This record gives sequence, C-alpha cells and structure tokens, in this order.
Amino acid sequence: MIKSVRGTRDLLPPDTAQWNFVEAAARDVFRTYNFQEIRTPVLEDLSLFQRSVGEETDIVSKEMFAWQDRGRAESEKGQWLALRPENTAGTVRAYIEHKLWERPGVQKLFYIGPQFRRERPQKGRYRQFYQIGAEAIGPPAAGSESPARDAEVLEMLATLLDRLGIQDWTLQLNSVGCANDRPRYHQALRAALVPAVAKMCDDCQRRAVTNPLRVFDCKVPEDQPIIAKLPSIADYLDDSCRTHFTEVQRILTALSVPFVLNDRLVRGLDYYERTAFEFTHGSLGAQNAILGGGRYDGLSETLGGPRAPGIGFAIGEDRLILSLKETAEALAKKPDAYLAPLGPGMNAEAAKLARDLRHHDLIIELGDESFRLKKSLETASKIGARYVVIVGENEVKADAFALKKLSTGEQVTVPRAELAARILSA
Ligand code: HAM
Repeated sequence: MIKSVRGTRDLLPPDTAQWNFVEAAARDVFRTYNFQEIRTPVLEDLSLFQRSVGEETDIVSKEMFAWQDRGRAESEKGQWLALRPENTAGTVRAYIEHKLWERPGVQKLFYIGPQFRRERPQKGRYRQFYQIGAEAIGPPAAGSESPARDAEVLEMLATLLDRLGIQDWTLQLNSVGCANDRPRYHQALRAALVPAVAKMCDDCQRRAVTNPLRVFDCKVPEDQPIIAKLPSIADYLDDSCRTHFTEVQRILTALSVPFVLNDRLVRGLDYYERTAFEFTHGSLGAQNAILGGGRYDGLSETLGGPRAPGIGFAIGEDRLILSLKETAEALAKKPDAYLAPLGPGMNAEAAKLARDLRHHDLIIELGDESFRLKKSLETASKIGARYVVIVGENEVKADAFALKKLSTGEQVTVPRAELAARILSA
C-alpha cells in the first residue's frame, strides 16, 4: 500500500471544517485591515531562500526540499529549485518582480498555503505544514517604516486570535536592531563567545564565526547556560531603533494589547531587523509558537529591489488548529434533509426536488430509488440528517411530500412550495 510521505498528512472531513473556519475568520479580519490576497508559487529558485532566510539558518542549511532540475537539453543541468519553506521571500520577490512599489501606499498582502521543511515530525511539526501570513511592505515615503504599522499588525493578530476564541496567548516582543547596530552587537557576541565556544555544539562553534546571532537558535541543553549569559541586544540598539521600539510598545499599550519583552527572541531567519515577535500558547507543548514575524526593512534591497521596509507574520495553521476550542464535529455541517426516492423512476423526481431545495441553501443528500424506505431512514440517521423527505409516486402526483423529522419521528405532509421554508424553520 502506498502511504502519504513522512511528515505530510491528509486533512479529512470533518477536520477540514476547522481549517475552513480558521481561514474564513482570517480572511474576514484581514479584509477589515485592508489586506488583500497574494498567491505565489510553491516552487521557487533555491537562491531566493539562501539570500533572504540565510545560508546559516537551520531552515536553509538543514531543512530544505531542494534539487537541481533538468536542463532543456537532455545532458544539460538546470536550475536549483526549492519547495518554499516560508512565504515572505516569495512575496518580496513578487513585490520586486511586479514593481508593486509603483502602486499607491503600503502593499498589504496576505497568503494562505502549504510550506515545506524537512524537520523531524512530531505533534505540531510537519514537513508539509500550512501558514496563514501577511506582509505590509512599501516605500518609506508611504509610511512602511512607521511603528504604527508594527502595532497595527500585532493588534490585528490579537483580534484574530480573540475572534477564534484562542485564549491564553502570550505575545513575546523584541527588537533585534538594524544594519547600523548589528556589527557592534555581533562583535560583543563574538567576544563573549570566545572563552566558551569550545564547549559548545558543532553548530554553535561554526555560527560563532559566521553568524553569531544564530547561536540563539541552538536547542542543545548543555549550551543553554552559556547562551543565557550572552550580551543582550537591548543594550546595543541605536537611538532610532530604540525610539522605534518604544513607540511600538506605547501604541500597543494604548490599544490594550498585552506583551512581554524577551531579549533572547531573535527568530530563526536572517532577514529580521528591529521588531521581532512570536505568539506562544501554553497548550501546545514543545512546539508552542503559534506564529512568528517581524520587520525586514532591508530584504527587498538584499534581493535586488528598491528600499522597501516591511513587517509581517506567519501563523502556523496546524498549530492554531491544535489550540482551537471548537471541535471539528461542532463545525462540520450535517445535511438538512435526506431525500428518499421510493420506487422505479423516482430518481429524476428526487433530483428535481433536491435542486429546488438546494437553491434555498439547504444541504441535501440524495438516496437512490433502489433503496427500501427502511434503508433510507437508517442511512439518513447515520449521516446525521435532520429530515427525511419521501419522494414516491403518490407524493409526486399530489405535489406534496412526506416530511419526517428524525429526532422525534413526527411525520407531516407538506406541499412542494412550502417544503423549503418548513425545513429551514426548524
Ligand atoms: P517562522 O517562525 O519560521 O516564520 O514560521 C512561522 C510559524 O509557522 C511558526 O511560528 C509555526 O507556528 C509555523 N511552523 C513553522 N515550521 C513548522 C512546521 N514544521 N510544522 C508546523 N508549523 C510550523 C516564518 O515563516 C516567517 N516567514 C514569518 C514572517 C512573515 N516574518 C515576516 N513575515
């Protein structure tokens, strides 16, 4: 038997009702904050992620699904391709490719779709997982750099989580500085790592040289006491980053969006500058980050575009659903009525009636004329239909149908014209 690939899974009904519920709520909230949808390809040029997410990150160095494509000619080697591990890089690529900066204002874009990382699968961690994300990006003159954008995005997230009934989230907030203060901080980190790095894991030994900020991504327990003592980025922010960060906090406080400061939160992607954040949730165990995001003011230029500061986030939809209170069963819709054609030639009559009832937005399941009434009633009750409508020769002649309420067994005869209203009313 061929099975789904390790780390991937099928989403089946009724569970898909939860996914639709979450996506509908997200679309609705995004709409009121004036975000519009972007859909970028799942497949991108590998170098897009190497240059944006960063070669030294776990995502790019260990977790990519990437391969070299065939060239046009049989013997020729082709382009290096990758399944996207995240959607910010693709969105910024599209922003540059389609000159979206020529459009007025800040581009506010959202996406919903699968991402791929070759991680060790466990609860809340998959190789194909889904993100609901958004990016606000544009020329500085359009206000894209403003702390008001950061606060707007964070408040939108708080609103969405509240709307979904997800309580007990914690917003962890940090500023990771910018190109101006980063060299001084890197220097301080390197200096602090010199006496300790020999005792650290191989990854950290390498990171200490190539990209010391990435040391904070280390999960090795023995390294944690060393990491805890490293200098804090908060002490190295330049005046403009400090002012920006203070203003983000001031607006959040005015909006009553609670947050905690966490100066160890650097996020596992290289493109971040200034604001970085995660929302965590207690019920999720080890994989407790429901979502993460931050500013990436230099990313467009890194990818060859114009200056276009931006801020965004991605929600791990799989994890969000794990913390959802609404059960799949409660969200999945059951048929309003089961139509039971009774006897030869009744399939067409039942189909006609089903079409009429569906026009009234009713959920209708159709039986088959070969079924006996007993079988139809059993099936209707197994699938959770509220009513059974019997479509027999006598009913068609009288243009009135036997309507049976399954919860009470009560049966009445209802003229065709009144049937939909009757089913809708209870
Ligand atoms: P990220 O922190 O790598 O950020 O991923 C965002 C969220 O995706 C995580 O908080 C988590 O909920 C979910 N996630 C990540 N990996 C997995 C996995 N293997 N299985 C299940 N869920 C997972 C980004 O991707 C950035 N692009 C976010 C962003 C947008 N920053 C600015 N704009």
